[in-house]
Formats: sequence, C-alpha cells, structure tokens
Amino acid sequence: MAWIVGIIQTKGGAGRSTFATNLAAHFSLQEPTTLIDCDLPQGTSSSWYALRQVEFASKNLLLAKARTHLELIQKAKEHAAISKYLIIDGPPRLTEVTRAIMILSNLCLIPLGASAAEIWSTTDLLQTLAEARSFKSEVDARLVWTRFRAQTREAQELKDAVNRGLKLDELQARLGYRVAFSEALARGLSAEECADRNAQAEVLSLAEEVKRILAEKER
Ligand SMILES: Nc1ncnc2c1ncn2[C@@H]1O[C@H](COP(=O)(O)OP(=O)(O)OP(=O)(O)O)[C@@H](O)[C@H]1O
Ligand SMILES: [Mg+2]
Repeated sequence: MAWIVGIIQTKGGAGRSTFATNLAAHFSLQEPTTLIDCDLPQGTSSSWYALRQVEFASKNLLLAKARTHLELIQKAKEHAAISKYLIIDGPPRLTEVTRAIMILSNLCLIPLGASAAEIWSTTDLLQTLAEARSFKSEVDARLVWTRFRAQTREAQELKDAVNRGLKLDELQARLGYRVAFSEALARGLSAEECADRNAQAEVLSLAEEVKRILAEKER
C-alpha cells in the first residue's frame, strides 16, 4: 500500500511546492516515490523535477501530472502500485482537485505562513474539509507553519490566534524563513541538499514527523 500525502492551501505562494518537493526528495532517498503535480499549467513541481533530472536523476523519484480530479484518481491508482509514497502538490484554489486530494490522502498538510492574509484564506479550506469529513470521517489535515520567524512577536501572536480560531491540528515541525528554501526550489534540489544546516534540520524533522504520523495509522 502506498502512503499518500497531499499538500493543500488555497492561498497562492503559501509554500505548497516547497513542502511537496522537499518531502518527495526526502522520501525518495529510501523508497520509490511519486510527486504528483496538480497545479497546472503553472507546474512548479514539474519544473523542479525537470531541473533535478539534469543532475540528480533518481529511479526512485517519479513525476505524474493531473489536471482534473479524475486524472488525479487515475494517476494515484497507477502510482500507488509502484511507489511507496505519493506526494501531491495541490492547486491554489478550491476545486474538485482539492476535494479529491482530501479524500485520497492519508495525511493532508496545509502550509501556513505566519501572516494575517494567509490565515484568513485558510478559513475557506475549513468548510471544504468539513464536507470531506462528512464523506470520510478519517480525513486527516494538519497545519504546518512555514516562513516562521520564531523570534518575532507577530509570529507568536498569529500562531496563538490560529490555535484558538482555526482548531486544526498542527505539526510540531515547521519551516523557518530561509533563503535555502527558495534556492533549493529554483535549482531542483531539496533544502537537505543545500548548505543551510537549519533548513536541513527542519526538512528532516518534517519528514520524520510525517513518517511517524503515517506509522501510527498502520497500527
Ligand atoms: N520557508 C520559506 N522560506 C523562504 N522562502 C520560501 C519558503 N517557503 C517558500 N518560499 C518561497 O516562496 C515562494 C512560494 O513558495 P512555493 O512555490 O512553495 O508556494 P506555492 O504555494 O506552491 O506557490 P504557487 O501558488 O506559486 O504554486 C517560492 O519562491 C519559494 O521558494
Ligand atoms: Mg506551487
């Protein structure tokens, strides 16, 4: 059985492709992994993958593309037979694709930057999440902080407000605001493959926490 991790967020530029590419690169070090790009025609994950093929091609990391929810279901079925992990990069809109990602995934991650605009846009997702849960009660979606500036009061205040208001589970792991993340994305790398030790440690913690959550589901 393949584990499916979907990255969803309606706010553009929230960090979906950063999470998707870093998790896909990490998991592919150990197991066959497919990155499914559902954010087309933009295709950030697809462009990252194409760049990666030039120097870091690995038989363990495949790319699939899906423009519609039906295509996503088909690709997920095909790749679940050959990969251990499917990582889905979602679109920046609430569409049938977003709903399909919620239903298909064992775990959905909702990247959230510590800024008010991103937090407001996340409330849109909650209604859709509630609808998905009325269909499949075990839909598991968790916030994950990104571009987090731990030392600022604004970040801490926003985090507290979100914990009170959104009532979503959140990951302990989070990504800080680091140039390594944008550099890695632009070069077809994961932040673990860049020199920034903080970024490396954050991706490692993220991947390990995701693995722990998935392992708990197996019990
Ligand atoms: N933690 C971070 N620190 C610094 N820059 C980041 C971080 N996360 C993402 N970025 C940068 O912010 C931009 C948007 O991130 P990303 O492409 O991952 O978001 P997205 O939600 O997939 O956006 P889009 O709507 O364009 O698909 C990129 O340039 C990325 O490199
Ligand atoms: Mg993207």
